[in-house]
Amino acid sequence: MANNLTYESKKLGVMYFSVAAALLGAQLLFGLVAGIQFVFPGFLFEVLDFNVARMVHINALVVWLLYAMIGSVYYLLPDETGIETVGVGLGKLGFYVLTLAVTVVVLVYILVQVGPANHATLWLINEGREYIEAPRWADIGIVVVVLIFLANVYLTAIKGERTGIITVLMADLLALAGLYLAGMFYTENISMDQYWWWWVIHLWVEATWEVFVASIIGWALIKTIGANRQIVEMWLWIEVAMLFGSGILGIGHHYFWIGTPEYWWEIGALFSALEPVPLVAMFVHVMYDWGKEAGIKKGAGEKPMMNNTPAFMWFVGSAFGNFLGAGVWGFFHTLPQMNIYTHGTQFTAAHGHLAFFGAFAMAMIAMFYMGVQGTTGKKELKMTFASKMGFALLCIGVVGMTVSLTIAGYGQVMVERAQMGATWEAYFISQNSHWFLQAMGWRLVMGVVTLVGFLYLVYDLLTIRNSKVNNQ
Ligand code: HEM
Ligand code: HEM
Ligand SMILES: [Fe+2]
Repeated sequence: MANNLTYESKKLGVMYFSVAAALLGAQLLFGLVAGIQFVFPGFLFEVLDFNVARMVHINALVVWLLYAMIGSVYYLLPDETGIETVGVGLGKLGFYVLTLAVTVVVLVYILVQVGPANHATLWLINEGREYIEAPRWADIGIVVVVLIFLANVYLTAIKGERTGIITVLMADLLALAGLYLAGMFYTENISMDQYWWWWVIHLWVEATWEVFVASIIGWALIKTIGANRQIVEMWLWIEVAMLFGSGILGIGHHYFWIGTPEYWWEIGALFSALEPVPLVAMFVHVMYDWGKEAGIKKGAGEKPMMNNTPAFMWFVGSAFGNFLGAGVWGFFHTLPQMNIYTHGTQFTAAHGHLAFFGAFAMAMIAMFYMGVQGTTGKKELKMTFASKMGFALLCIGVVGMTVSLTIAGYGQVMVERAQMGATWEAYFISQNSHWFLQAMGWRLVMGVVTLVGFLYLVYDLLTIRNSKVNNQ
């Protein structure tokens, strides 16, 4: 396929996007295995048990998002700085090293699965920390690759132009990489281990990744609809201040029941309840900018600028998804008075799916389309039937899974926690209630819908350049 990208940095970005899309496929397949096991517990018993399928599912999620993030930054860097990325050759080496390491880690997860739970297991097989289970050797490899990436971003920004978006990204990526180190300690005290582990998980998603997608969406609004840079960057700074403020102390909503002091109840309740505020602001901001630009252009007798409808559709979806998944579904269970009932139920999984998909996966899929537009060299990319089907089925699938999981969680809250006092027996009774069983059936159906949506998406990414609407 012809590649019309002139910057090596953008080409590298697209390489990252390709692996990200493949890993998203792997994530969905392993999610389906885990989903089938809820309905047919004997499925792949002792071949690929639930704990392994679930581990591969959520680690694939983290890793594909990492790929999409690095890809996005390499992709937009030349636009913002006006120069080729410094050290892009080293960046390519980093890409191959990371991809080799990820392949080895996944093969070990699937073929070796578990070890004797000693230091050799920790170094070679799996660290046992949910979402960041990579063994210690891979941790060190990831740190090296990320250091190359950070160095490239910093050196390029210092040499070229430094816009507000780049400045925010520089600070944000440093925080994001630094936090990973908090997940590499090993302590035998489970409370302490969880305490630091949340620094990675919570501070990643609710502080650094939120700021990251805000920067990306800001850049994309300028690119696709010609939004005013000053307005976009002003909101970005406000969001940075608010998200870092509420997001950092909001970590208290994970310190309710892990053996940390009780003052976290108040801190967690107050600050995490404030977290949706910047999310709403982001949502209003995207809609406002869009309407305003369109209005001004219409007034001047021009057609509002819009040069990539599929990407824009996913970006707008991501603003909605962020607001719903993180803001609304997060707020539902963030107060300790609620969380004491919902903690660790399928309700948490409902929120986890909608938030990750809505806030981050959707924004990164939008970036895949930005990459496709650049590669094809098309001034304008229009959506096709497959673009619409991919978007519709992925959204229906994930929202459908979320609703099913919310119902399952509600059943657990009612039966296991409220009525039966959260005993061991109550846990099993609620897991066998009709609500729970039916919800798990529906989750599986909706999981299949999600997978079909993904197939449309991949087909579209590969063929949109040849479609009729884009070749008139
Ligand atoms: C895009 C941003 C977000 C993402 C991707 C996200 C994702 C997740 C995930 C995956 C979990 C489960 C972690 C585990 O395995 O235990 C979780 C837990 C939680 N999230 Fe979020 N979240 C986001 C934002 C928020 C916001 C804004 C709030 C509050 C307003 C929130 C409130 C919570 C709470 C209270 C829990 C703990 C649930 C429990 O006790 O079981 N989240 N989140
Ligand atoms: C084919 C579609 C999918 C299926 C069938 C599926 C299924 C599952 C299952 C069975 C679990 C384990 C839940 C548990 O431990 O009770 C899980 C966890 C999880 N999945 Fe999915 N999933 C799918 C797609 C996705 C997508 C698209 C995302 C996000 C972009 C995602 C993010 C997560 C997260 C964050 C968790 C951990 C949740 C928690 O512990 O609270 N999954 N998934
Ligand atoms: Fe959190």
